[in-house]
Amino acid sequence: MYLPQDPTKTHDAAARISAVILLALLSLATVEGKRSCPTNYLQVPAISCRKHTALITDFGGVGDGVTSNTQAFRRAIEHLSSLAADGGAQLTVPPGKWLTGSFNLTSHFTLFVHKDAKILGSQVENESEWPQVALLPSYGVGRDAPGGRYSSLIFGTNLTDVVITGNNGTIDGQGAYWWDKFHKGELNLTRPYLIEIMYSDQIQISDLTLVNSPSWFVHPIYSKNVIIQGLTILAPIDSPNTDGIDPDSCSNTRIEDCFIVSGDDCIAVKSGWDQYGIKFGMPTEDLVIKRLTCISPDSAGVALGSEMSGGIRNVRIENFTGINTQSAVRIKTARGRGGFVKDIFVRGMYLSTMKYVFWMTGNYKSHPDDKFDPAALPEITNINYRDVVAENVTYSARLEGISGDPFTNICISNVKIGLTATPKKLQWNCTDVEGFSSDVVPPPCAPLAKAGKSGGCDFPEDQLPIERVQLKTCFVQNPTVV
Ligand SMILES: *[C@@H]1O[C@H](CO)[C@@H](O)[C@H](O)[C@H]1NC(C)=O
Ligand SMILES: *[C@@H]1O[C@H](CO)[C@@H](O)[C@H](O)[C@H]1NC(C)=O
Ligand SMILES: *[C@@H]1O[C@H](CO)[C@@H](O)[C@H](O)[C@H]1NC(C)=O
Ligand SMILES: *[C@@H]1O[C@H](CO)[C@@H](O)[C@H](O)[C@H]1NC(C)=O
Ligand SMILES: *[C@@H]1O[C@H](CO)[C@@H](O)[C@H](O)[C@H]1NC(C)=O
Ligand SMILES: *[C@@H]1O[C@H](CO)[C@@H](O)[C@H](O)[C@H]1NC(C)=O
Ligand SMILES: *[C@@H]1O[C@H](CO)[C@@H](O)[C@H](O)[C@H]1NC(C)=O
Ligand SMILES: *[C@@H]1O[C@H](CO)[C@@H](O)[C@H](O)[C@H]1NC(C)=O
Repeated sequence: MYLPQDPTKTHDAAARISAVILLALLSLATVEGKRSCPTNYLQVPAISCRKHTALITDFGGVGDGVTSNTQAFRRAIEHLSSLAADGGAQLTVPPGKWLTGSFNLTSHFTLFVHKDAKILGSQVENESEWPQVALLPSYGVGRDAPGGRYSSLIFGTNLTDVVITGNNGTIDGQGAYWWDKFHKGELNLTRPYLIEIMYSDQIQISDLTLVNSPSWFVHPIYSKNVIIQGLTILAPIDSPNTDGIDPDSCSNTRIEDCFIVSGDDCIAVKSGWDQYGIKFGMPTEDLVIKRLTCISPDSAGVALGSEMSGGIRNVRIENFTGINTQSAVRIKTARGRGGFVKDIFVRGMYLSTMKYVFWMTGNYKSHPDDKFDPAALPEITNINYRDVVAENVTYSARLEGISGDPFTNICISNVKIGLTATPKKLQWNCTDVEGFSSDVVPPPCAPLAKAGKSGGCDFPEDQLPIERVQLKTCFVQNPTVV
């Protein structure tokens, strides 16, 4: 569209022209009412619309799947960051295959990936493609190797108002390279994530297909006011640590309408690891997850933990579909974790081919190092599950608290579990747990047999502030119509 040599000048000219066209279209829309959507604009729901737009090709990008676009992305975003105070900017990735190493986002910024565009993660493992970043303070150590960690493919820190979206464009981490190194024990640094946003406020990640992350896919950490919606996340079911979405020490987060197939937990809610997480002390709280569909034969639909040392509270999960998944909403913790998991509310689970419907684990044995304090016990209380239909289940429940530190106030109501052709004899295996139940088939273990409240287990009636946030309709220039 315009030359890379003087992006400032050409960019503003383009923005002015876009604004004029947009105004014309808007007045046309007013006159013509609901009739038709202009084909050279796409309608994109977002927390903020942007005044300026640019294409990655304006900064020297080449979408041939071979040329590295690492410098193009970095130059583009560096340039567009100067427009943050002037209405913000959108960087559009048009149809093509865009190979790149890690790059950093900026504030008041939208990265838009067109449906026929694919961002491909670089497989050149060096400092210019994959810079090293500091270890996470709430984890203390690297997870794959004792050293530091690679920056995520798409990384942002200390930002306000950042949107990563598309009309179902693709971001492909080309993870096989990293999984192979992981299996061979050849990693010197912890693998990059696909998307990581740290210390930020007002984040939206939506309407994308994410495939084959080197490790976790989407990792918002130390952040607030996060909306994640309409993601299709796909990784082989045997790929290592390919968690779908990991809200970690985040508050006011809404995750909805996602479809995830992965080699690890579809969603893992976290808040730091043992003594490092206890010291950092930042919980994940006020989280809502709606209409999640998950396939993960060896992991959970939603895991709470295992790293939960900063605490997890006020989580609301509604309408979870699990297919061929090991467990549904699982608690994972251990002595040494400290912290808490409390005020968890789950309503509406539709499950088919599950090893466990309910699973809680008090001896999840991974620790960052041997300096954890075994006297730091987690507090697990007020966990509510209601309205569950499951079929082809191997074990109804395995609920394993901690001796001397029982998991309390567990409530389970209105549950119908259909078993596999050859069901296990001990359907409810419960130790160090206590709570209530009503209308549960097959009947639960004695520690949960106390009658629950009439009307079933609690689910809050109010909405979280993040549920009330309405997305605006932004008109985004369609890069295929110029
Ligand atoms: C991205 O930001 C991190 C943290 O500020 C920094 O260490 C890294 O060098 C930045 N990467 C690039 C490519 O600028
Ligand atoms: C990393 O690899 C890229 C692509 O091969 C190359 O252009 C760059 O110079 C390398 N950087 C370093 C620090 O080796
Ligand atoms: C980002 O914010 C954190 C927490 O407020 C602060 O400790 C850190 O220094 C900030 N980093 C940058 C690069 O501004
Ligand atoms: C997005 O693309 C994926 C992969 O092709 C597809 O499975 C999914 O249904 C698409 N989502 C939407 C909303 O079109
Ligand atoms: C990892 O470390 C080993 C041993 O120090 C070294 O031979 C290898 O080149 C390093 N790999 C990378 C990608 O830096
Ligand atoms: C959950 O599903 C039920 C039954 O289909 C529906 O009535 C309810 O509105 C759904 N809730 C959400 C948050 O999607
Ligand atoms: C039921 O679950 C078993 C595993 O326990 C699986 O092998 C089988 O295919 C499932 N049957 C159906 C009908 O989904
Ligand atoms: C019951 O649960 C305990 C603790 O999780 C486990 O060690 C034991 O093997 C289970 N028993 C059966 C019969 O599954």
